[in-house]
Amino acid sequence: MIRNPNIPEIVRAVASDGTQLRYALMELSTQYKDAIQLGRGDPDLATPAHIIAAAEDAVRSGKTGLTPIAGLPELREALAHKFQRENGLSVETDNIIVTTGGQEAMYLVMQTLLDPGDEVLVPDPRYTSYDEAIESAGGSIVILPTDHDDAYNLRPEVVEAAITPKTKALLIVTPSNPTGGIVTEERLRAIAEIAIKHNLIVISDEIYEKFVYDSWQHFSIGSLLGMEEHTITLNGFSKTYAMTGFRAGFVAAPKDFIRAMAKVKAVTTGPAAAVSQWAGLAALNGPAEPLREFQRIYAERRQVMMDGLRELGLDFSEPRGAFFLWTNTSSTGIHATELSYLLLKEGRVLIFPGTSFGENWGGFLRISILQSTDLLKEALQRMRPIIERYRSES
Ligand SMILES: Cc1ncc(COP(=O)(O)O)c(C=O)c1O
Repeated sequence: MIRNPNIPEIVRAVASDGTQLRYALMELSTQYKDAIQLGRGDPDLATPAHIIAAAEDAVRSGKTGLTPIAGLPELREALAHKFQRENGLSVETDNIIVTTGGQEAMYLVMQTLLDPGDEVLVPDPRYTSYDEAIESAGGSIVILPTDHDDAYNLRPEVVEAAITPKTKALLIVTPSNPTGGIVTEERLRAIAEIAIKHNLIVISDEIYEKFVYDSWQHFSIGSLLGMEEHTITLNGFSKTYAMTGFRAGFVAAPKDFIRAMAKVKAVTTGPAAAVSQWAGLAALNGPAEPLREFQRIYAERRQVMMDGLRELGLDFSEPRGAFFLWTNTSSTGIHATELSYLLLKEGRVLIFPGTSFGENWGGFLRISILQSTDLLKEALQRMRPIIERYRSES
């Protein structure tokens, strides 16, 4: 229940729709010019110079026409090598399609994969854009609970218990948006066995793969024996290389699936923008140093935010990956949507409520760390009086 009657209509009207709620809050935040943006999951860091140079070069040298629907052959080949080398996947160029961002990839995957009535198992809390992608293809989502005590790892027995004759696929997002949890290799091995036994497709969104902390490791389920024909791996350039606006993503899947996806892509957006594909190729072939620097920066910010939240007395799940702190705010006694609004209005900090990642999460906020450490510290200071006021009231 949202008790604050002053929550503006643009937030209230969409409070039960995670994706719309995020957009409504972002729109509202534009009214507060000094608001610190800890909402979106888009890197704030500059795209590395060699990638910008490749994009400029592509424009100047007239590489501005259409590419083949599935993407530039050079880029598909480089992506196949990346998947082989870094993820252990047995793929070739024909197993790859380049998309207009991961966002389009998830839509095309669902359109291609699902028949009306199919069920997709989705760990909760979740990146709710998948809800829309699944539902727009006539599918329905079946929620798989994950929790703090298990660091939001996915339990194989929870997966197996949710399978019905209608189950077509299982979605895994590792590292996770919004929890920062990862699905560990041991669990992925058990889940792979279940997928093979029940003939399920695993859609593995690995868009945050490069950002894992402490000694945690990213692992790709598609690398496991027997999973080649059962896995659709989704990824993109946005997060790894701070290239969100280039809108370039990619998918690895069985060849016939890629051909079917390309048919859907041909009648939606056509090929991904040529300039973005050349930039993506430069990102893959370029120096590793900029990514290492990003990793260092995010690790430092994660530490600043963890220290700050501990000082505020808020409980959270230590992120093993990605850019987010999934923070328990139930001690304030105030619903997350309302708290998020108050933090924006009174504290000038935009943070998404847990309810924008699933209806069950009214006691959580997702705090992103995509600002400088100074701004993160400033945001923590602005949050303090609001959190403390409500905690003492409740
Ligand atoms: C889990 C996940 N998958 C996919 C995407 C899509 O990213 P993009 O369209 O920028 O590649 C996002 C964006 O936030 C995400 O969080």
